[in-house]
Amino acid sequence: MNLTVAPSAGFCFGVKRAIDIAYSQTGKQEPVATLGPLIHNKTVTDDLAAKGVGIIETPEEMDSGTVIIRSHGVGKEIYERLKQRGLHVLDGTCPFVKKIHQLVADAHEKGNRIIIIGDEKHPEVMGINGWCDSSALILNEPAQAECAQLSATEPYTVVVQTTFRHSKFQNIVAILKEKGITLQIHDTICSATEKRQREAVELSAKVDKMIVIGDRKSSNTQKLVEICAKNCQNTYHIETIRDLVLNNFDKDDKIGLTAGASTPPAIIKEVIVTMSEAFDNAVQNAGGSEEVSFEQMLEESLVTLHTGDIVKGTVISVSNEEVSVNLGFKSDGIISRDEFSSDKSVIPSQTVKPGDEIEVFVVRVNDGDGNVQLSRKRIEAQKGLEEIEAAYNDKTVVTGTVTDVVKGGLIAVVNGAKVFIPSSQVSNKFIEDLSVFKGKELDFNIIELDRTKRRFIGGRKAMIEKEIAEKKAAIFATLEAGTKRMGTVSRLTDFGAFVDLGGVDGLIHISEMSWGRISNPREVLKEGQEVEVIVLDVDKEKGKISLSLKDSAKNPWMTASEKYAVGSIVEGKVVRMVPFGAFVELEPGVDGLVHISQIANKHVVKPEDELKVGEIINVKVLEVNPEQKKISLSKRQADAPVEEAAAAEEAPAAEEAPAAEEAAATEE
Ligand code: F3S
Repeated sequence: MNLTVAPSAGFCFGVKRAIDIAYSQTGKQEPVATLGPLIHNKTVTDDLAAKGVGIIETPEEMDSGTVIIRSHGVGKEIYERLKQRGLHVLDGTCPFVKKIHQLVADAHEKGNRIIIIGDEKHPEVMGINGWCDSSALILNEPAQAECAQLSATEPYTVVVQTTFRHSKFQNIVAILKEKGITLQIHDTICSATEKRQREAVELSAKVDKMIVIGDRKSSNTQKLVEICAKNCQNTYHIETIRDLVLNNFDKDDKIGLTAGASTPPAIIKEVIVTMSEAFDNAVQNAGGSEEVSFEQMLEESLVTLHTGDIVKGTVISVSNEEVSVNLGFKSDGIISRDEFSSDKSVIPSQTVKPGDEIEVFVVRVNDGDGNVQLSRKRIEAQKGLEEIEAAYNDKTVVTGTVTDVVKGGLIAVVNGAKVFIPSSQVSNKFIEDLSVFKGKELDFNIIELDRTKRRFIGGRKAMIEKEIAEKKAAIFATLEAGTKRMGTVSRLTDFGAFVDLGGVDGLIHISEMSWGRISNPREVLKEGQEVEVIVLDVDKEKGKISLSLKDSAKNPWMTASEKYAVGSIVEGKVVRMVPFGAFVELEPGVDGLVHISQIANKHVVKPEDELKVGEIINVKVLEVNPEQKKISLSKRQADAPVEEAAAAEEAPAAEEAPAAEEAAATEE
């Protein structure tokens, strides 16, 4: 005979936890009872009853004492009734079921209608329904889903009984989806069940005969029987060794064995030992071809813990102060808030939830109260240490959260490990108030490391300088003279404005700020202002960028010939005096010259004798030269156009003024 035992046969963690809670209450003076049978296994419930843990069906059956809620969970109203009676409650609800309660309660509160896929008579389904005021639509068969009358305007939240068959669940969901309704589907089937069922499918397909152990009332056991019977005609469902008919098996048979979630290890063991002895053979582990003895298998299935171990566990419950973790050990583990994270602002209930698998460090196997003292902080610190070492060796960047500002620098925590960043290393420039970094995430290099003293020094200076250089190089690579860019005015000086182009500053000289005349950059720009600039020149060697605000398309000289037609009389403002005449601004950026001979109809010694800076005068346009940006004007002819016209015929034009003088004045 070759007997193969499915690795997940028997108690799941939720059931085991509820049973452990019940056994922890045996031998008490005060009354103790479970609300409903703890599991579908008479052997266990009888044993508990003999040890003083009875069964009640309703809270009203007890006046005092302790009530244990089984792993199936109960509805909200039951908790209220238990509280009203002043009973002490020990909650054995499986964390996975608790999660469904929460989902349903939240969705119900939001106004979603609840659909539970499962058996309406199953206590777990009844309990879940109790978190939406028993308003859920319960579907156990695809046909029920076909017939269901659902509203297209209402949103539906779907959850499923943890022990439901996956293929059937998918079938029902597919039918619901076809109805074109708004569905929020949560696959809440427990992986323990799924795993046990998957193993049953695989094992039953490989063997001649299959044994399924479990109570006849247990739905998950019945499902296992159903699954196995499909693959293996010779499937035997037994509750205990008493139902086992050895004559059904031959020495040469390949036999598979699995067990429902409520089957205690002792019953499984009894069956295996009996068969093993009867056929004087070894038992093969389903995981491989290697043959192992039953004792060895049992040994392997027991979880042993030692201080310093790093193990995985499943979160059972979370509060703001501690996390309770199932380790598969005889007692649960507790992570206090202190040991949860080195970042004191981390709140356990916002970080993990029941059902999550987490890695923990065993601080003490027994904390005095019978619990295992665990730490998550130390795992973090270990990981942080590895991260820091790797960053130091590979010269890569790590990210840490600044937890403290201390004398001379900052303390940042990288995955639980503390790193000191001296103030001189916080930035590439001096920062007066380091407290602005508190609580912030910072990237830095590890510049010094002393493993034995656990001393780690972080630095950002070189990293920031490198980043700036890289940014500069990238910006320089894309900058082209003549193109436009957006930038932010970072600094104003008397001679111009520095504009940040995304990590690199360029300069707009005052002369490039306006087509008109300005005496200070502040007349045009202010710090922090976003501007569109034109790139005039890029000097990659010197790292200099020249910018302009003067858009050539708006150059007033382009339209000067049309606007200031020769012979026309226009208005202008005297803006500057020179010995040979006065400059008159016709519009910002367009100045013309009234030569001294054209100021008045008489001999003028100095322009100031006839004109004042700021004075608005009429002038006649004598000549326009947009290329050289020159306009010759005459006030004399504007004032006396008729006489001037005659005089103009006799005398040479005023614009024939000494060219050198005029050129010099224009260049000014
Ligand atoms: Fe068991 Fe909880 Fe899953 S009771 S089957 S671990 S939902």
